[in-house]
Amino acid sequence: MQTQNKRGGLRHAGITAVGHWTPDEVLDNKYFESYLDTSDEWIVTRTGIRERRILRNGATSDMAVNAAKLALERRGWTPNDIQLIICCTVTPDMPFPPTACIIQDKLDAKNCWGFDINAACSGFLFGLETASRLVESGGYDRVLLIGADKMSAIVNYQDRNTSILFGDAAGAVILEPVPEEYGILDSHLKVDGTGREFLYMKGGGSLNPATAETVAKGMHYIYQDGKTVFKRAVVEMAESSAHIMERNGLTADDISFLVPHQANLRILDAARERMGLSKDKVMINIDRYGNTTDATIPMCLSEWWADGKIKKGDNLVLSSFGAGYTWGAILVRWAY
Ligand SMILES: CC(C)(COP(=O)(O)OP(=O)(O)OC[C@H]1O[C@@H](n2cnc3c(N)ncnc32)[C@H](O)[C@@H]1OP(=O)(O)O)[C@@H](O)C(=O)NCCC(=O)NCCS
Repeated sequence: MQTQNKRGGLRHAGITAVGHWTPDEVLDNKYFESYLDTSDEWIVTRTGIRERRILRNGATSDMAVNAAKLALERRGWTPNDIQLIICCTVTPDMPFPPTACIIQDKLDAKNCWGFDINAACSGFLFGLETASRLVESGGYDRVLLIGADKMSAIVNYQDRNTSILFGDAAGAVILEPVPEEYGILDSHLKVDGTGREFLYMKGGGSLNPATAETVAKGMHYIYQDGKTVFKRAVVEMAESSAHIMERNGLTADDISFLVPHQANLRILDAARERMGLSKDKVMINIDRYGNTTDATIPMCLSEWWADGKIKKGDNLVLSSFGAGYTWGAILVRWAY
């Protein structure tokens, strides 16, 4: 009879390859200065963002496919090796079919099934939990997990409160079985639906289907009560990151990197301080990409890995907060 590991699975699941992709077009803060009542100084000091990438032509699936191809290439696999594609996104190519199916077709991956996950800015973490459990169960050996968003498709570029925050990008990871001491070691994930009124896109779903009126009222754009979301994000990201560290008996010295969702530099600083980490132990790329929703965490992993900064055996705390509210942290010991 097979024995269970600490997570209740038959084996451990780990990330064994990473990839990312960003469009070439850059929107810097000066661009917003040129037509909105804002300034580079305000944006940098309040958010940490200096520029973001915008995809003019194409959809979320196009970015996802490019990120996935890089991850597959780095692993030395072909698309036919993949058994399951999970796409985490709030900007699917269209409400249905799942963007995972469009990615499957564009990759020409012939041996897999797939589905989408919508958990807003926590999508990648919730997807990582889902994918790793499926590998831990013994059901799957080769999973492609993607976080991709074309935020420019749902941002109102006349709204200075939100337009400056978001960018377009995709990140992808491959998950497979790894030796017991590596991979996804622990997770702590939460939702609180009372937060749904502070960050949402109201139109286009079954509650408010698209009409000329919903378009005229701007209901197909992101709305955010920034201050309210900010206050809760600071608390929950910091607490969940510290909680997963303490629950596993780890001190700041044991953590190689905090890998936070990139929504606001001030939120990342609060989490870092609560964990007692020095600044060099936080992955930050919000200055170059803004908030790319589901792509932020896999993008950081891919960039830091490519720069040789992540080593086998490193303990990473992945942490996020997003609309819903959704939030949490996952402890990963790097497997390769
Ligand atoms: C959005 C956010 C950057 C705004 O920063 P803030 O310090 O909270 O700023 P406030 O919302 O209090 O706004 C302060 C003032 O700046 C103004 N302001 C907002 N955007 C501005 C901009 N781009 N340029 C200049 N002024 C701006 C506001 O209108 C407000 O003016 P008022 O006091 O006259 O009404 C910040 O609240 C935030 O990051 N929120 C959380 C984001 C998050 O974690 N989301 C979840 C994951 S996506």
